[in-house]
Amino acid sequence: MNLSLAIARWRVSLKTFPALLRDAFNYIRFRRMIFHRKDILDHGIAQIEWVNPRQALERIHHYRFPDTPWPEQQSLAIELAPDCDGLETMLLGLICRISHPYAIFEIGTYEGRTANVFALHSPPECKIFTLDLPPDFSGPTRFAIERGDRKWLSKEGTALGCRLGKLPYKADNRKIEQLFGDSAAFDYTPYRGRMDLVFVDGAHSYDYVMSDVENALTLLTPRGFILLHDFLTHAGVTLAAIVLRQRHDVVHIAQTSFAVLFPKQP
Ligand SMILES: C[S@@+](CC[C@H](N)C(=O)[O-])C[C@H]1O[C@@H](n2cnc3c(N)ncnc32)[C@H](O)[C@@H]1O
Repeated sequence: MNLSLAIARWRVSLKTFPALLRDAFNYIRFRRMIFHRKDILDHGIAQIEWVNPRQALERIHHYRFPDTPWPEQQSLAIELAPDCDGLETMLLGLICRISHPYAIFEIGTYEGRTANVFALHSPPECKIFTLDLPPDFSGPTRFAIERGDRKWLSKEGTALGCRLGKLPYKADNRKIEQLFGDSAAFDYTPYRGRMDLVFVDGAHSYDYVMSDVENALTLLTPRGFILLHDFLTHAGVTLAAIVLRQRHDVVHIAQTSFAVLFPKQP
């Protein structure tokens, strides 16, 4: 091998070494977390109440509007955009419709699919704030990013917020405001106490979910609630929900990866 090529390669590997070391450290840390908490996970999941999607909607309605009985004749039919299929998207639209939010905060914009669902199914005066890391973000983040989250961060083959601004009615598009920053370091001051619904769908590590939920709690109106995505599909989210259940009502919506957190006042 040519000597200069060998030196160049060696330099590159020296440069990437700290990143490799950090990755390895995070990976070991994550495996240890799962290993040590496997019993907590197994035991804790069994403790979390689950309800079917219809019961979840009634629960949310009763939490939001305790003096109004569930309107039995209410239509639960919902129109889906052609590229938004599946029970979760439909349920997200219904949750939005029956909870009648005037402001929603989403952590984790990605292409803007769920922000669009909120815009389509919320009252005309609703504002939707959706937060993600800036497109050119190169780190570091406040907490470690899990290996499995890299694909969401890199947006390979797609772009941050690329679906936004494309709904058929301009008024729906205008409801959405994109925000940029690390969810654990973002200044939430202007949004505190104003959100009827916070959707936590950002980084999936335990540290991030706990931090996002702690911030989300400060954003809520008195009858506001939090929707967690990826419960049961990600260990960090699942563990966070189990821990949060000790302080709040947490309900899993069966057949989905949604968990609803109804805050208990301290
Ligand atoms: C699962 S995707 C969100 C999907 C989106 N809610 C949807 O379904 O349309 C997670 C998003 O969280 C973002 N994210 C990850 N870590 C973050 C952080 N520390 N702060 C803000 N956003 C973050 C990623 O960039 C990614 O776009």
